[in-house]
Amino acid sequence: MSVKDLKETMAEPVRLREATAEDMPAVSGLLKAFLPFVEEPGLHEMVTTEDLIRDGFGDRRYFTILLLELVKDGEAALAIGYTMYFYKYSYGGRSLYMEAIFVLPEHHRKGYGKVIMRHLAKLALENHCRSLTWQGVLDRPSANFYRSLGAKDRSDVSDFQLDVEGMMGLIEGAT
Ligand SMILES: CC(C)(COP(=O)(O)OP(=O)(O)OC[C@H]1O[C@@H](n2cnc3c(N)ncnc32)[C@H](O)[C@@H]1OP(=O)(O)O)[C@@H](O)C(=O)NCCC(=O)NCCS
Repeated sequence: MSVKDLKETMAEPVRLREATAEDMPAVSGLLKAFLPFVEEPGLHEMVTTEDLIRDGFGDRRYFTILLLELVKDGEAALAIGYTMYFYKYSYGGRSLYMEAIFVLPEHHRKGYGKVIMRHLAKLALENHCRSLTWQGVLDRPSANFYRSLGAKDRSDVSDFQLDVEGMMGLIEGAT
């Protein structure tokens, strides 16, 4: 079975498909619903629908989004979640990096998050990746979800980040 056609029959059947530029207004709505779960320091403003179209569907594609849709009468009826991913590379070779995973709260604990993760694992293996990686905050409920998948956390590693001001300061020698 091709991973692109993955359909899962669960309590309510769902399917995953690659989002198109036309889906970006709906994706913007999902991103807004996702925001309260992240509380990312330094995140001042969210990307717009125009940013998503430019960066996801321009000459260089910075990400891929998969939409999780409920299927009713054989037709996709409603987007209830998404994941955003891209590929990264290191001395260890290829890795699929999951930037975000989100299922609407009213659909939590129905197995849909796991459907998305299984799909990403298949995609990673099909593309000869050595790992599927992502960031998570340890004291959030999502960490229990990640552990339920058998994922190991790297508590010895921390993220370092320069925001735009920080990068400018570095270039101009202010730091
Ligand atoms: C994290 C998230 C994607 C999980 O999706 P989900 O569809 O609810 O997860 P599943 O139903 O597939 O859960 C699979 C297993 O993970 C574990 N799990 C999932 N959510 C959990 C929670 N809140 N607390 C404890 N364990 C949890 C359970 O073992 C669960 O199996 P069970 O329900 O049979 O006990 C979803 O909760 C979500 O979108 N949260 C908000 C956004 C977010 O925090 N994203 C991650 C930050 S990037």
